[in-house]
Amino acid sequence: MTNSETKATLSFSDGSPSIEMPIYKGSIGPDVIDIRKLYGATGKFTYDPGFMSTAACNSSITYIDGDKGELLYRGYPIEQLAQNGGDFLESCYLLLNGELPNAEQKEKFVETVTKHTMVHEQMQFFFRGFRRDAHPMSVLVGTVGALASFYHDSLDINDAHHREVSAIRLIAKMPTLVAMAYKYSIGQPFVYPRNDLSYSANFMYMMFSNPCEPYKVNEVLVRALDRILVLHADHEQNASTSTVRLAGSSGANPFACIAAGIACLWGPAHGGANEAALSMLEEIGSVDNIAHFIEQVKDKNSGVKLMGFGHRVYKNYDPRAKLMRETCYEVLNELGLQDDPLFKLAMALEKIALEDEYFVSRKLYPNVDFYSGIVQRALGIPTALFTGIFALARTVGWVAQWKEMISDPEQKIGRPRQLFVGSPKRDVPAMDKR
Ligand code: CMC
Repeated sequence: MTNSETKATLSFSDGSPSIEMPIYKGSIGPDVIDIRKLYGATGKFTYDPGFMSTAACNSSITYIDGDKGELLYRGYPIEQLAQNGGDFLESCYLLLNGELPNAEQKEKFVETVTKHTMVHEQMQFFFRGFRRDAHPMSVLVGTVGALASFYHDSLDINDAHHREVSAIRLIAKMPTLVAMAYKYSIGQPFVYPRNDLSYSANFMYMMFSNPCEPYKVNEVLVRALDRILVLHADHEQNASTSTVRLAGSSGANPFACIAAGIACLWGPAHGGANEAALSMLEEIGSVDNIAHFIEQVKDKNSGVKLMGFGHRVYKNYDPRAKLMRETCYEVLNELGLQDDPLFKLAMALEKIALEDEYFVSRKLYPNVDFYSGIVQRALGIPTALFTGIFALARTVGWVAQWKEMISDPEQKIGRPRQLFVGSPKRDVPAMDKR
């Protein structure tokens, strides 16, 4: 954060004295006005539900230019990382450490992550406590939080080595937990990780192999999964990341913080949108029903939204959606599903929505979730697990942001203020007077 000479002056029409506040410049993006002294100087808070205009931290991890439709991890465009960059673990290294790894660093990082893929054997009893039809996100909130009970040797958040070990554990164990949640839901035995496989290939193996038959990894499908992971790895201060930061600001351990992030991600306005987008396509059913559906979306009383469209930050095409559409083609071709009716329906719906005045005037474009459900379904991932895959990918972003927060000397416990609109102080009346 660079302190500039520029200052903002806030004046009041009620005769209160005006105050000056410093303005800071980031490396790119909007400047921020530092309002920290506002309450002390004026006795007034600011009001900003949904953080529409409020930066709650400084960060050097991920940058989004919503108007241009640009997403950068540590300065590198997502398109380059997804198309010419290496695999997901390379993006993980980049997000955690700030630079892409050289060959030696990459080898060491992959080896370290790979050595942590197994979970404590007793974790299986947590899974067995859930109903078979439990939502995987509920299982993940529980089991990721439970990791804190097993890894006491990495819980000291003030110890940089502990933080590092927890970060690696979370990234390495998430695929194992997500695959266990799936296997449990279908009544198949848990599959132990295979450390001779890549991160994404190992996940496919734990998901889709069984002890009775050999399993052949399909490289095209592994690449598609890897791309899903790269595209979802981080997205600056979104709701779940802010949740992780807020939970961590109290000094909570990283496993608890990531469990909080998973809980937030579950909501349909956030990570749950990929599941909701696919269900929406299934409900629309055919191209002939699109016009009626769009009419419902435009009717504010219907409560119907075009899922997979719109974004708080992107007021242009989400760059991840373009890459996801490309992957969609690749996967459907590989599996001989070029005529997949849901993909055709999605493309027709996108075209109609992009030409419709309602969406154009509100700058509503497809987001990453519009196509990711179709890809995941083609990979064999059940709809209920889509958000779990998102959580698996986002774990590295959460962890990187959590680590950044812990090492920030300006970090304070997160404690928003409120505009109180309830009853002023009053006396409790006796029962017969109520
Ligand atoms: N369908 C219909 N109308 C919409 C939609 C949509 N998907 N999204 C926004 N609008 C309308 C909204 O009703 C409002 O209209 P008006 O100005 O007439 O009141 C206007 O567009 C502005 O929307 P907003 O609700 O103020 O925007 P927001 O920034 O608060 O919400 C959002 C962003 C993502 C929650 C919202 O666009 C949405 O609910 N989209 C569908 C769910 C979805 O796809 N979520 C995934 C987000 S991407 C994955 C991630 O990063 O988590």
